[in-house]
Amino acid sequence: MRARILGMTIAVLALAGTAWAAENIPAAAVTEADQIWTTRCALCHGAGGKGDGPAAAPLNPKPRDMTDKKWQASVDDKHIELVIVKGGQAANLSPMMAANPDLEAKPEVVKALCAKVRSLGGK
Ligand code: HEC
Repeated sequence: MRARILGMTIAVLALAGTAWAAENIPAAAVTEADQIWTTRCALCHGAGGKGDGPAAAPLNPKPRDMTDKKWQASVDDKHIELVIVKGGQAANLSPMMAANPDLEAKPEVVKALCAKVRSLGGK
């Protein structure tokens, strides 16, 4: 029951587009997001988000440097979350940025991944 209320609260806040502080994300979602970042995202983006992962070399365009504060300021969380769930093509970016359809049912993990991407920019 508590989990359901928490889930509903998350959904309502997400719908309202409320700015999401990392500490409001359930710890389990943060842990899962960290694992996903390490096992999936870092392959291309690099552990520190510099775009220097082991699978990045042959990519064109390459994944950007996510530590770039200018880029961080130029995109909103909605963009980041859209690209994560629907893939690069959904935002006119490279299709090499694959969709992650398994995350569609896990909005709090997507939020945590977005917070992870933000943290790379020093936030
Ligand atoms: C197969 C390599 C690959 C993997 C794996 C990958 N990405 Fe990407 N990603 C890319 C590329 C390439 C781009 C840049 C596309 C472009 O600029 O056209 C990108 C773009 C992005 C962007 C948008 C950057 C922008 O310019 O707005 C975000 C956010 C992102 N990735 C997050 C993630 C996350 C989170 C994961 C793990 C769930 C992930 N990516 C996994 C290759 C990858």
